[in-house]
Amino acid sequence: MASIESGTDRFVPVADAEELEAEGRQLVTPDGTAIALFHHEGEVRAVDNRCPHMGFPLSEGTVDEGILTCHWHHARFELSCGDTFDPWADDVRTFPVEIRDGTVYVDPNPPLDRPPAEHWADRLESGLEENLRLVIAKSTIGLLEASVDPQDPLTSTLAFGTNYREGGWSSGLTILGCMANLLPTLEPDDRKRALYTGVRHVAADCAGEAPKFDQPSFSTTEPSLDRLRSWFRDCIEVRDTDGAERCLRTAVEAGYDDAALADLVFTAATDHPYLTTGHVLDFANKAFESLDAVGWPDARGDGLVADVLASLVDPLATATRSDETSAWRQPIDLVAQLSDAYGGDVTELDGLESMVAAGSDESWTTPEGFREILLDDDPDAIVDALVDAVRGGATAEALAAEVTRAATTRVAQFGTANEFGDWNTVHHTFTYANAVHQAARRTDAIALYRGVFDGAMSVYLDRFLNTPPAPIPEIGANETGRDPETIRADLLSTFDEEGEVNEAGRLVAEYVDCDGDPDALQRTLGHGLLREDAGFHTLQNVEAAFHQHALAETDWDRRLPLIATARYVAAHSPTNREAEQTFSIAARLNRGERIHEA
Ligand code: FES
Repeated sequence: MASIESGTDRFVPVADAEELEAEGRQLVTPDGTAIALFHHEGEVRAVDNRCPHMGFPLSEGTVDEGILTCHWHHARFELSCGDTFDPWADDVRTFPVEIRDGTVYVDPNPPLDRPPAEHWADRLESGLEENLRLVIAKSTIGLLEASVDPQDPLTSTLAFGTNYREGGWSSGLTILGCMANLLPTLEPDDRKRALYTGVRHVAADCAGEAPKFDQPSFSTTEPSLDRLRSWFRDCIEVRDTDGAERCLRTAVEAGYDDAALADLVFTAATDHPYLTTGHVLDFANKAFESLDAVGWPDARGDGLVADVLASLVDPLATATRSDETSAWRQPIDLVAQLSDAYGGDVTELDGLESMVAAGSDESWTTPEGFREILLDDDPDAIVDALVDAVRGGATAEALAAEVTRAATTRVAQFGTANEFGDWNTVHHTFTYANAVHQAARRTDAIALYRGVFDGAMSVYLDRFLNTPPAPIPEIGANETGRDPETIRADLLSTFDEEGEVNEAGRLVAEYVDCDGDPDALQRTLGHGLLREDAGFHTLQNVEAAFHQHALAETDWDRRLPLIATARYVAAHSPTNREAEQTFSIAARLNRGERIHEA
């Protein structure tokens, strides 16, 4: 069966026209491509034999009144063009057909009507609009295989997520931001999984939601940043979302840089302690990090900076304020304690500003025993240590790093005898503290000191979850001389079984003790994470741990977040790995593999 490779005729003979008419259908394989031929209503049609849903052979489907129906999940396709009636199944590819002298000819490699990057970008948009997991998987794989810069799908997904969810920034966009941060640390195939994970969570978060209608910026950019910040805080305080959005959009319109915009947002995000168990400040930090990932100049030009930051208004205004919760008020009134420390109400900044202004100009170094105080059960001592540090010239960034390491220790030492749901409690504190730390690296807003104090109070509140503490292996105690690659494989195996929490932490310690490459360890942890149906918290946890690993300054602190997150992933694994199954089918369909044909 020879094709005419002149560049003008790619058609190859595949069947006898009379035989096909008599039989109604035939499976042919020109150039190894499995094609289902149908003779229907006087026409010959050729479609990819693999159902685009999960690869069932369409030559075994039913054709009736111009519709081809797959027998597995009953997806229907318009036979002449391949478009589906059922968007979850995707469209099936068709092939041009000609009848020449009683023989059916098919072009098995018709030219693409547009570049793959464009095709997959369109499909990604459809996947987002219809919340179609399979289409999203195929698109994200297709885009990265077409060498598209991940910034492009990240940008379009960020724009979609901020425009099509009235309730604003939530877990889906946070996951997308986490995945954007993880991309450089991952193996190429896991980058596809990460993008797929981020996009599908945004799609799921927007499904069935009302779109967001914008409030415009004011028609002047005259008000100063101080005034806009003051108005913004007042609006958030009384839960006035419209007014807050206009202030925020005006600040963007006025051209303030990311540090100034961060000052405005994080000041409001710390006006009350630990909003919505820390999630709101973390959302805000991820919004800024997402704009880092897609590039601020382009995002500004597209109006995306304003849309992304405006999406934070609703979570800020509707947040649960921890000063209104009993845990922060009884048996010890932590909020009153913080107010005393600041010399004014926690919602005001004056006292804290004076304290910082009066602080030493000397550079601060962490005093001996500082972390032990943060992890102990005396809130007075914790607040005193922090106040002393501020007076001693400690920056918010330096203090946030210390509090985050204490919070990381809570995860690393989480006792497995605790109620399972309490993993969330130590996790919330950890990601909150990490977000404060990252935000303090972006802006020197005084308000972020409040984030430090609030994070430290949450570390204090979590103290019983380390009773008894799970042991953190000493450096060198697990130097077994084993091959690091074998240890990584063993670590991955711990995620295949329940209850391997402490072993996962020990293996990380052994790997480091055996001089394993930390980048390879992160690639393994990333793979272990992305093959699971990892939930919001698990995805966040790994990303925050990698961030903290990168910023650590001692061997102990570089190991600590990796031990902590390996334990966290192990505690939440294995899952059904349904998302991975969809990803695997999408990858095989994109590669042209036959899946369910005999
Ligand atoms: S509908 Fe065809 S494989 Fe699912």
